[in-house]
Amino acid sequence: MTKDISALRKEYTKGQLDASILGSDPLKAFRQWFTEALNSEVLEANAMILSTVSMEGKPSSRVVLLKEITEEGIVFFTNKSSRKGQEIAQNPDVSVVFFWGELERQVRMEGRIRDISEEANDEYFYSRPRISQAGAVVSPQSQVISDRGVLDSAMNDWLADETKLIQRPAHWGGYEIVVNRIEFWQGRPGRVHDRIVFVLNENDSSEGESKESWNICRLAP
Ligand SMILES: Cc1cc2nc3c(=O)[nH]c(=O)nc-3n(C[C@H](O)[C@H](O)[C@H](O)COP(=O)(O)O)c2cc1C
Repeated sequence: MTKDISALRKEYTKGQLDASILGSDPLKAFRQWFTEALNSEVLEANAMILSTVSMEGKPSSRVVLLKEITEEGIVFFTNKSSRKGQEIAQNPDVSVVFFWGELERQVRMEGRIRDISEEANDEYFYSRPRISQAGAVVSPQSQVISDRGVLDSAMNDWLADETKLIQRPAHWGGYEIVVNRIEFWQGRPGRVHDRIVFVLNENDSSEGESKESWNICRLAP
């Protein structure tokens, strides 16, 4: 029998959050939270929901994997001819959300996409297992295909000869989300959660020298 969905309820009691705990650099704070998620055996802590918006203003979301935390943002890899890739080409503004239920935490990020270098694309692609390299080559991600067999036989062809170099397709690579807003959320009892948000101060450059600064505030839950 299906449970009464409206009766599903959980109190959040694992932690609390204050701006002083997070410091002044949100990506450093994110790195710390990410390490804590890894140490808490969160299932696929690096899985994040990425939302893109089409030129017509229609949003779409899917899971991708975080692969690097940089000074200015985060990196993921994908097929750039996919639906998300096409939407990003038209509109580089995206958002992501991580939900780490075991820690009763959520992190939301907003930012603008930029390509990572071809060298970094190659470095990551050739570090992947051969089967994943073949997968990237055979899958026209997001396109309609007639059946599963098309993929299976293409995979078998690529994997049959172990000596054959599987070259990175030009349309496969990484995107860096240069983050301009990050929100850290910690669940609290009675739904009075903690939310601390960092918003990038875009105009913060003095005498040609650009230095990042963040406005930090608390939001009502
Ligand atoms: C746990 C998990 C991890 C995933 N990681 C990636 C990823 O890193 N890159 C990627 O392109 N797709 C990844 N996917 C598949 C995407 O969710 C999605 O199906 C695919 O990218 C096509 O999306 P699109 O048609 O909106 O472009 C992952 C899916 C799951 C469930």
